[in-house]
Amino acid sequence: MHVQADSHSPSNRPVALITGASSGIGEALSRVFAQRNYDLVLGARRIDRLTQLAQEIEQSSNVRCLVRSCDVMQTDDVEALAQSARETFGRIDVVVANAGYSAQGRVDQFSEAEIRRQLEVNVMGVVRTIRATKDDLISAKGRLAIMGSVNSFVSVASTGVYAMSKHAVKALADALWYELHPKGVSVTHLAPGFVASEIRGIGRDGAPASGHRRNPPSWMVLSTDQAARIMVKAIEGRRRERILTTFGHFIVGAERHARWLLARIIRTFKLTKPGASY
Ligand SMILES: NC(=O)c1ccc[n+]([C@@H]2O[C@H](COP(=O)([O-])OP(=O)(O)OC[C@H]3O[C@@H](n4cnc5c(N)ncnc54)[C@H](OP(=O)(O)O)[C@@H]3O)[C@@H](O)[C@H]2O)c1
Repeated sequence: MHVQADSHSPSNRPVALITGASSGIGEALSRVFAQRNYDLVLGARRIDRLTQLAQEIEQSSNVRCLVRSCDVMQTDDVEALAQSARETFGRIDVVVANAGYSAQGRVDQFSEAEIRRQLEVNVMGVVRTIRATKDDLISAKGRLAIMGSVNSFVSVASTGVYAMSKHAVKALADALWYELHPKGVSVTHLAPGFVASEIRGIGRDGAPASGHRRNPPSWMVLSTDQAARIMVKAIEGRRRERILTTFGHFIVGAERHARWLLARIIRTFKLTKPGASY
């Protein structure tokens, strides 16, 4: 365990635990929660990236950061992350189950192992994070956020396996809202459209890959900072769901009310090409 905080006394500030904090949306969420005076518990596999982020945050604010190597495929890692938070800060007020990647391609291009891995990280990783922190959130009457996607609602060619994982976490978030809301815990399903991150550099096997994904048009893409600010507002406001980007709203609306229109958009923007994603 690597602890940036120089003091291990319980925190007076609220504490936010974020998985997948080493890049992209998770990194940006960490910065925004720090600006809002939360102490941070940050997990991901790339501990060097987490350590650098924690140093930057601690140098520019009064908050304390605890970082720990955490692979959400490993139950022990996730439980250790939560236990470190308890020991260091004495509380967990916000949990963002964010870690994930987007495996793209036609369903018949996937090996069974690749499909299992996508579900292990995007679905079981979220389940492990919630199981490890649920009691802390109930004690704090806290806030749980689950990272879905526009693909929590929409599944088209080349996104089937990823969309399967995101439909699953939306179903989980919906059920948990009923189960945890009476105990004072809000559950927010976050559904971003395109956000500028490292997500398009990861391949079907979950490892870095290059040259196989085309980027969406820039007008469709939100910066990680903008996305994180919208997400933190939704989490603090105890919103049940927040879809991000105008394009994201439009696509979800088209899926719900005019599937013929969605099919036409997909043809127009050639979103059925391998590598296209929402
Ligand atoms: N960017 C978008 O357009 C977009 C749209 C919809 C939904 N999302 C969702 O947003 C979340 C964050 O993605 P991003 O866009 O920010 O991509 P990103 O920049 O690639 O970040 C993904 C994060 O997840 C972590 N991660 C991946 N596998 C992990 C594992 N096994 N254990 C622990 N951490 C793991 C990575 O950390 P390490 O590699 O260091 O472990 C990294 O910090 C994902 O759930 C994604 O599905 C993104």
